[in-house]
Amino acid sequence: MILSGIMAIAGLVTSAVAGVVTSNIKVPPPNPIPVVIQGIPNFSVSKFEAQGVVLSDRNYISFHLTPYPGATPTHCFAIGTTAAHMLTTIPQTWCTPINTTDPSSSSTPSTPTASSDPTSNSRVWFSWTMGEDVDPTAPTASGIFGMAQTTGAYIKVVRQVDERTRDEAVRHVPAWYLGRQGEGMLEHQVFSGPSNFSLLALRFTGEEH
Ligand SMILES: *[C@@H]1O[C@H](CO)[C@@H](O)[C@H](O)[C@H]1NC(C)=O
Ligand SMILES: *[C@@H]1O[C@H](CO)[C@@H](O)[C@H](O)[C@H]1NC(C)=O
Ligand SMILES: *[C@@H]1O[C@H](CO)[C@@H](O)[C@H](O)[C@H]1NC(C)=O
Repeated sequence: MILSGIMAIAGLVTSAVAGVVTSNIKVPPPNPIPVVIQGIPNFSVSKFEAQGVVLSDRNYISFHLTPYPGATPTHCFAIGTTAAHMLTTIPQTWCTPINTTDPSSSSTPSTPTASSDPTSNSRVWFSWTMGEDVDPTAPTASGIFGMAQTTGAYIKVVRQVDERTRDEAVRHVPAWYLGRQGEGMLEHQVFSGPSNFSLLALRFTGEEH
């Protein structure tokens, strides 16, 4: 039963790969120097999942993100490549607004089309950085969120409000939430932390340079 569930996930991931990889999404560069910082409501995360897929060279991150109370939730989903069924760093990836009137849209990863529309007001992207890929000497490592730990992973979510304004959250995921499960060919890395949580978000407003 476990294996069939795993195979279902593997199939899901495989069928979604083409859409994710071929969509030529352009993510604006993060704004390095904030001029104004404001507190805003927390981002709300639900259905968070992250794992290396057994019997596959893929891993995936999937969650729903509601950037502020009453906002349309977006589905944040990305697939990585792993030789060892481990999680890997995932670069900036657009999230896709969830069609709340279509019951099938919330459970099935869909091709990110609507979210790459630059006029959309729900432009949310995320990234996932493994601790081993963190550069503690980078200028951003000691930034307001601090991204300097070389264990676990960092999840970053950004809502690009307009060209100069973004709402941003960064949270460290401790290594003990990212253990390995299963044995032999079923061994894989799985996020075992809570699936629902909130992210402290801040609004940054500033010049592009
Ligand atoms: C949402 O899904 C419903 C039912 O599938 C569809 O009629 C509607 O056009 C969709 N809305 C958007 C914005 O995609
Ligand atoms: C997580 O949030 C979703 C949607 O808000 C809810 O349906 C679900 O019951 C929550 N799960 C837990 C474990 O709190
Ligand atoms: C916002 O998120 C932070 C970090 O997860 C949490 O400590 C805080 O309690 C949250 N605040 C609210 C109002 O939910």
